[in-house]
Amino acid sequence: MQKGGIIISISNNKGGVGKTSVTCNLAVALSRLKKRVLVVDMDHQCNASEILRMEGVPPTNTIYELLDPDSGHAGNVSEFVYPSRQSNVDCISNIEESSALDIPLAKASPQSFTILRDKIRRFCLKSYDYTLIDNPPSIGLWLTLSLYASDFALVPVDAGSGNSLDGLRRVLEMINDIRTAGNSDLKFLRLLVNRVHMRLSVSRQIVKYLQERLPADQLFDTNVPSNTAIQKAEFMKQTVFEYEPTSRAASAYRQLAKELVTITNGANTLEPADKE
Ligand SMILES: Nc1ncnc2c1ncn2[C@@H]1O[C@H](COP(=O)(O)OP(=O)(O)O)[C@@H](O)[C@H]1O
Ligand SMILES: [Mg+2]
Repeated sequence: MQKGGIIISISNNKGGVGKTSVTCNLAVALSRLKKRVLVVDMDHQCNASEILRMEGVPPTNTIYELLDPDSGHAGNVSEFVYPSRQSNVDCISNIEESSALDIPLAKASPQSFTILRDKIRRFCLKSYDYTLIDNPPSIGLWLTLSLYASDFALVPVDAGSGNSLDGLRRVLEMINDIRTAGNSDLKFLRLLVNRVHMRLSVSRQIVKYLQERLPADQLFDTNVPSNTAIQKAEFMKQTVFEYEPTSRAASAYRQLAKELVTITNGANTLEPADKE
């Protein structure tokens, strides 16, 4: 097992490209490889929280309370961490009301840019092998907070829609900007092509376009196929591992988790003082 954990933001300013689906399914796939995983839900739509949260856990200690600049909370991050239904996967949940933090966080900027980093980074690196942060579909404050806290950005794109490549440059530029402006730990991990439907020419064209234009180390070898098991699982507020573990999607996520572990193996992000 690697010594220090790794924090990965799942980011794309487009909605519907699969950020939440990737976050939750990859989290479970990693846990099946005996990795300890924390999912942080930074999207006010709370889809990841709904898919992962164990029933009956009151959503009182959420990202809202954790990040509220007026709460004065200086306590232990572990108070905000709830187990999911999956062993080895924990979650810091979100609630819709957290959108009310936009104004206080914006007023407190640029100091607030590091609020998530300051609160969770040390804890995550020590307690989890992988922390996956699900993000809202916009280039804004919440994505900024996530990227400030992260080591890597994983960017999913939807092979079912030509539009999903629009704006890709903006999210890649944002990653670059944050690396130079304040988080030198941040690296672009790879693009993940989601919803691949090889019988559709748009899918084939998008995959070909990306393979021809991107260096091999900027694109995952594994693609996630278009598979209704993902939508059905989501409807049941589950991951594909619970809903249909034999599906093509589940098998792709198993493969993706192995690829991710190989890529990130040896990436030890703990500072020397934290290692002993
Ligand atoms: N590989 C896939 N095959 C089929 N449906 C998918 C796939 N990935 C995501 N979806 C569906 O697409 C929709 C958008 O995915 P979601 O993860 O919510 O995107 P985002 O978080 O980027 O807005 C959801 O209904 C989800 O179930
Ligand atoms: Mg989402």
